Amino acid sequence: MQQDQWGHSLTTENTESVEALDQALNSYIGWRTDASQHANAAIAADPEFALAHVVKGILVSGLRKSELNHLVSAELEAAHKGRLPSTARERHYIEALEASQSGRITEAASHFEQIASAHPHDLFALRLAQFELFWIGEVEWMRDISERAAPMWSADQQNYPAFLSIRAFGLEETGDYELAERCGREAVERDPTDCWGAHAVAHVLIMQGRLADGITWLGELNNNWAEANHIVHHLWWHLALFRAENREYDGALELYDTRLRNLDSPLMQAIPDFYVDIQNDVALLQRLELRGVDVGDRWQPIGELARARIGNHSSPFTSAHCALALAAAGLEQDAQELITQMHAFVAADRGALGPRYALAVLPAAEAAIAYRKADYQRVLDLLLPARRNLWQMGGSHAQRDLFFQLLADAALKLGKREFLTLLLKEIKGIGFDHIEERSSYADTLATLAS
Ligand SMILES: [Fe+2]
Repeated sequence: MQQDQWGHSLTTENTESVEALDQALNSYIGWRTDASQHANAAIAADPEFALAHVVKGILVSGLRKSELNHLVSAELEAAHKGRLPSTARERHYIEALEASQSGRITEAASHFEQIASAHPHDLFALRLAQFELFWIGEVEWMRDISERAAPMWSADQQNYPAFLSIRAFGLEETGDYELAERCGREAVERDPTDCWGAHAVAHVLIMQGRLADGITWLGELNNNWAEANHIVHHLWWHLALFRAENREYDGALELYDTRLRNLDSPLMQAIPDFYVDIQNDVALLQRLELRGVDVGDRWQPIGELARARIGNHSSPFTSAHCALALAAAGLEQDAQELITQMHAFVAADRGALGPRYALAVLPAAEAAIAYRKADYQRVLDLLLPARRNLWQMGGSHAQRDLFFQLLADAALKLGKREFLTLLLKEIKGIGFDHIEERSSYADTLATLAS
């Protein structure tokens, strides 16, 4: 038995493999690009080391690309053929990957939760629990896991800023903005390269309508993100969101072209179809169009990316955005095929995702298509009964707000003043404050004031 950098026992005697796995996990925790390379090195040094295979499988699975599922299965197979893991922690990782590979996301999360409960300094498990639960909307569960670990952490421990940033995001999504901001800012003060801490604070600031603070916050930090992976595109998205809400539409579009979808950037060239990038791009273009901005021919390439994901049901939130992209790019038949395949998935799935597609993604996707056809009554008919279930598509309050903006705009165009009043109350109830600062609801507020 060897031990990793945090003292967890590992079923291998190969120190080279252990060191490479340590580097892989540090890379993942630090949002860097070379986690898979280190996992490969860990496997090469000891091909019988099951956890190394599982870590590699988890990294591939995290890309949410169904065409890579065979690679995940191959790593699981190699893990089972390798040395039998002698620790419960390692066995939980294997079972978690098996569960997530089958769409049993809550089961996967509960394995990560059990690891974090027994090993509260295992940041890989804490991050994976947050990842899985966030993308199915289970934010209270997500928050509880990091809060249970919090008393076991102190400033003198390795990776403390990374823990603070996980904690901050869990707190933010469940509405504890004050403590979330404190944890996020402390994470960044201790480690200025900490992307997830910067991100958690950005969420607090958008929820509170503090647009100037958000522009300053991300504007001053972005020099620290040079080593980071695709998370930087999402951080730039947040800056573009602040700019768009602050009515700086040209600035938001410039960020889109130079940062969010710059085809010359090494990150974009390495993975041009990353699912969070699709979400970012669709969300920004749609928000700008809602404000009357001409986004030119920018929808076409995003529509093509969405078309390639029609049969991919691993990410409910992404699927909802793919409907927006396909409709906006004029790919009407593909948009309809997306809906057809979602219905088939809902009928066949026995995991945690099928019900979420049924309750949240399908109504949101069909409403997105109806909105593009200017069938505003259908948008209302679809989203009014579904709006309180939209959290089940996963993602953050700030991201899902786009579907409330579509609903508000449809209601506005139909002159449904009473519903607009109700909707604004609900948006505040979700946790948004000072929405009068934001361009998104300016038309709604102006109509109600007239
Ligand atoms: Fe975000």
